[in-house]
Amino acid sequence: MNPLNHVAIIMDGNGRWGLRNKNSRNAGHRAGLNTVEKIIKETIKSKVKFLTLYAFSTENWKRPKKEIKFLFKLLEDFLKDKVEDLNKQKIKLKIIGKKNFSSKLNNLLKLSEKKTKNNKRLQINLALNYGSKAELIDAFKELKKNNIIINEKNLSKYLQTRNIPDPDLLIRTGNTKRLSNFLLWQLAYSEIFFEKKLWPDFNEKDYNKIIRNYKSIKRNFGKI
Ligand code: FPP
Repeated sequence: MNPLNHVAIIMDGNGRWGLRNKNSRNAGHRAGLNTVEKIIKETIKSKVKFLTLYAFSTENWKRPKKEIKFLFKLLEDFLKDKVEDLNKQKIKLKIIGKKNFSSKLNNLLKLSEKKTKNNKRLQINLALNYGSKAELIDAFKELKKNNIIINEKNLSKYLQTRNIPDPDLLIRTGNTKRLSNFLLWQLAYSEIFFEKKLWPDFNEKDYNKIIRNYKSIKRNFGKI
């Protein structure tokens, strides 16, 4: 059976779920947050050590201002309400992506990271204002600036995911089959599962089914 150390998730389908069920995309994001909480609990049960969630991409800034504002308020309230609880559960929170939000949100994000930095049970990497191409370009620029030889090991050290093993498993919900500028380097050898259900409908049973399937796959990493 394959060990499972790191799960990455593209939580797609909130908008469609909201429109279908509540006539509001934002209601879908709120419902999506409930799924986030369920999946965190199940990830701990499965003894997975890293969970990376794609919460907001660099491309998501093209959405209507009202939706962006709602998403960040949801995030802010979530952190204010739950960081203590995450800390008690020994969860470490790490933000990947550029923290160039309002100073209020930046401070809250930094504080949440600082408060949970020594926790070891599960590390949640929240991808916020994250784009893989920008991350790679920044890493190459840093290598060049510091006159460091370009190789896989050195490049990995300059990515925002430094010190995080590559995902073993990527799940994308929402019946869409693309990577959307998410962890393009880090997903080179990950097993990818596309799930038809929209993120707010995704549940523990669906998650465990994917984990079971993943565990039964023969991973060759280029060998035979
Ligand atoms: C993609 O669905 C989802 C997002 C861009 C936001 C993800 C946010 C959450 C799950 C809730 C907030 C999370 C935290 C951790 C506070 P979409 O809106 O692109 O869906 P669509 O494809 O149906 O339009």
